[in-house]
Amino acid sequence: MRILLVGSGGREHALALGLHADSACTALHVAPGNPGIAEFAQCHPIDISNNAEIVALAQKIDAELVVIGPEGPLVNGVADDLRRLKIAVFGPSKAAAQLEGSKTFAKEVMADAGVPTAHSFTCSTLEEYEKALDVFGAPYVVKDDGLAGGKGVVVTQDRKEALDHAIACKRVVIEEYLNGPEVSLFGISDGTSILAMQPAQDFKRARDNDKGLNTGGMGAYSPLPWAPSDIIEDTHTQVLAPMIAEMNARGTPFVGLLYAGLALTDHGTRVIEFNVRFGDPETQVLIPLLKTPLATLLFKAATAGLADEVLEWKEDSAVTVVLAAEGYPSAPKSGGVISTLPSIQDVQIFHAGTARTDEGLIASGGRVLTVTGIGSDLTEARNRAYRAISQISLPGSFYRSDIAFNASVAEKGN
Ligand code: AMP
Ligand code: GLY
Repeated sequence: MRILLVGSGGREHALALGLHADSACTALHVAPGNPGIAEFAQCHPIDISNNAEIVALAQKIDAELVVIGPEGPLVNGVADDLRRLKIAVFGPSKAAAQLEGSKTFAKEVMADAGVPTAHSFTCSTLEEYEKALDVFGAPYVVKDDGLAGGKGVVVTQDRKEALDHAIACKRVVIEEYLNGPEVSLFGISDGTSILAMQPAQDFKRARDNDKGLNTGGMGAYSPLPWAPSDIIEDTHTQVLAPMIAEMNARGTPFVGLLYAGLALTDHGTRVIEFNVRFGDPETQVLIPLLKTPLATLLFKAATAGLADEVLEWKEDSAVTVVLAAEGYPSAPKSGGVISTLPSIQDVQIFHAGTARTDEGLIASGGRVLTVTGIGSDLTEARNRAYRAISQISLPGSFYRSDIAFNASVAEKGN
């Protein structure tokens, strides 16, 4: 099978490795890819914000499956353009991608599907903002209604900050604060059935102990030894399956990866958000643990053939730590030279924001590398990830030192 994977981050590096490892994949093309991916797949430097360039490349390489990594092209409708040409695509249509593209739309679908989420109001006037903030009280949660690359959400005790964010965004969703640990749980859907993956946890704040600014994600681990034992089944029944049924009933079936960001509150599971693509950096722990051949799995999803499929997982644990460039997330500094990457058993180093130049490998984005350690438990996986990342130097760069720490302690106590 000839596959085109679209994207260039750590998530795509992990997906590319997974696809490449499946013997059903005979040729792997990635657009635009990155220097890590270029070591084993053919990269094409196209502009993926332009649907026509993606479609032309898929035709040129005669792709039998296109896998879309980031949300941008999906929200732009590239899956529809490819399907019109009868090319199998893993990724939702423009209409279905609105689950990530519009928070208000996601809330409407959840309401119709009976999926538990925070109570909320969509507001666009000062009067509406103030009323909604006062209904829920502090901590205030204000979300930009559109795509904001992970920067659209403000959670604060400060009413003025909440109000200023609403005014700056114009159309916002103001909602109830959800108290409880957060879990990322992904489902792979063919439009009718959906397979729940094992859960992962992401660390969104830039600094240790959840201090600092919100980021795209500074690390992740899986599985979650502390989570309820029925979390996968429960999320499938309460969240994933009803969403897929509702999207189908609306005539806009969801084919691709449905990312449920959950809060496990005292009152039960609540959906914080949906994304319509694999999470980054959760994918960098899930794909190394997945035994089911990835290319075959995603092809079955793209061609409505998941009904009899089950996912198989390794018994291991995985921890990933992001190496971020100086200034991330507000003003990441590019151009720093990265030292030679170590080669360590049971460690996978994924490129996220790197470029190859005459000077060697340099940083070219906020999240530069994602370093995954695999082990028989979280402690071993963590030790491997941290041993590897401590051997990489990039001036001014930083990483969190507490990824999966509490979970590894809890696991030992079990
Ligand atoms: P989102 O972009 O919707 O994932 O929000 C980013 C982050 O803001 C989430 O990962 C949560 O940590 C936090 N957040 C979003 N909504 C809520 C909520 N209703 N209650 C508490 N925290 C929230
Ligand atoms: N890890 C958060 C995201 O992918 O949106």
